[in-house]
Amino acid sequence: MNAIHSIGCIGCGNMGAALLEGFAKKDKALSLYGYNRSPAKVERLAPLGIIQSASPDELARTADLVIVAVKPYQVPEVLSKIREALRKDTLLLSVAAGIPKATLARESGTARVIRCMPNTPATVGKGIFALAFAQEIPSAIQTAILDLFSLLGLALPLPESKFAAFSSLIGAGPAYVVTMMQGMVQAGITLGFTEKDSRRMVTALFEGTAVWAQAKEDHLMALRDAVSSPAGLTIEGVNVLERKAFAGTTVDAVLAANARALAMEKSWHTLRPIKNLWPSAWSTLQTATRESSYCCRPRCGTLCRISAFFCQKQQRTRLPACTGHNHVLQFVKLIAMGPTPRMWEYPAFRHKRLLYLAINL
Ligand SMILES: NC(=O)c1ccc[n+]([C@@H]2O[C@H](COP(=O)([O-])OP(=O)(O)OC[C@H]3O[C@@H](n4cnc5c(N)ncnc54)[C@H](OP(=O)(O)O)[C@@H]3O)[C@@H](O)[C@H]2O)c1
Repeated sequence: MNAIHSIGCIGCGNMGAALLEGFAKKDKALSLYGYNRSPAKVERLAPLGIIQSASPDELARTADLVIVAVKPYQVPEVLSKIREALRKDTLLLSVAAGIPKATLARESGTARVIRCMPNTPATVGKGIFALAFAQEIPSAIQTAILDLFSLLGLALPLPESKFAAFSSLIGAGPAYVVTMMQGMVQAGITLGFTEKDSRRMVTALFEGTAVWAQAKEDHLMALRDAVSSPAGLTIEGVNVLERKAFAGTTVDAVLAANARALAMEKSWHTLRPIKNLWPSAWSTLQTATRESSYCCRPRCGTLCRISAFFCQKQQRTRLPACTGHNHVLQFVKLIAMGPTPRMWEYPAFRHKRLLYLAINL
C-alpha cells in the first residue's frame, strides 16, 4: 500500500479535529473517520463527511492511517485498545508530545509508526509538522504522508533526535510570537489606538511580514536595512531593540525551552509498563479498578473508579468530584511517566500524598 485512502483519528479534541477538518477540506477523495471518548466532538464534524467509528478498534481496522491525538498520558491506554485491531499494513501516527517512536511501537505492537509534532497554528490550517518515520516504512509511503500533511501547512521529515529542538523553536514558537505581538498591541494602545484596532493591525503586520520574508531570499538583516531609512524613525526603534539585546534574549528563550524539552524527553524515554517498573503501584491500580463500584463523575469511567477507591481507602464518602478527578489524573500521569529522579519537579506530582497512598496501601 503506497497510497493512503482512509484516515482515522482517535481523540478529536483541538488537534485531532483540526487535522480531520483540514484533510476533509483539502482532499475530498479521502475517507475520514473519527472516534472520541465523548461522541459529540465527532458528531460536530459530520457535516464535513467525517464518519463516526463505533469504537477505537473498529477505526483501527478500517483506516489506512490511524492518528492518535489524545493527551500523552492517555496514549498507552488507547494503543492497548487498538493493538489487536491494527492491520499489518496500517500506519500509526501519534501527535502526542514527547512520546518516542520506540514506545509507540512497543505499546501498539506495530513497527509502522510515525511520530509527528505539530504546532498550534495547525488548528487553523497553517501548521508546521515535524515527522519522524520508523525505518520499516518505505520511502514512497513516507513521501505520501509528507504530501498529505503539506495540505495543512509545512511538513518536514525530521530525525527523532531533533524533536526537542523542534519543539523548543517551532512548537513553543507561537508563544514567543504572541508575546512580541502583545508588546506591540500595548504600544499601540499607549499611542492612542483601541485594543481592538491595535490587535487587528498588529496581527496583520505579523502575517504580512511573514509572507514578505518568505517571498524574499535576502538575509533578514538586509530586509531590516531595507525598511530603515537613514536618520529615520525605524532605526531609532531598532536601536532600542539592539541595546536591549532582543535577538539574544530570543535565543536564550529558545535555549531555555530546549533544556526543558531535553529533560522531558529523557523522562519519557524511561516510559516502561508500570507493571515491570513499579509492581506495587501497578497492583494497587488494578485492585482499584476491580474493586470500586461507584464513581464521582460517571462519564470518567475507570479513572473515577480509581478515584473512588482512594476515597474509600481514606474512609471518606467521597472527595469533591473535581479534586478526586485531578488526583487521579496526576496518578495516571505518574504511572505513564514512570518514577524518574526528577519527577517531583513535575507540577502534576505535587499531590505526593496520593502517591504514598498508592504504594503503601
Ligand atoms: N493543541 C495543540 O496545539 C498541540 C500541539 C502539539 C501537539 N499536540 C498534541 O496533540 C494531542 C492532543 O492535544 P489537544 O490539544 O487536541 O487535546 P484535547 O483538546 O484535550 O483533545 C484530546 C481528545 O482526546 C479525547 N480522548 C481522551 N481519551 C480518549 C480515549 N481513550 N479514546 C478516545 N478519545 C479520547 C478527549 O475526549 P474528551 O473530551 O471526551 O475527554 C479529547 O477530545 C496531545 O497529545 C498533544 O501533545 C497538541
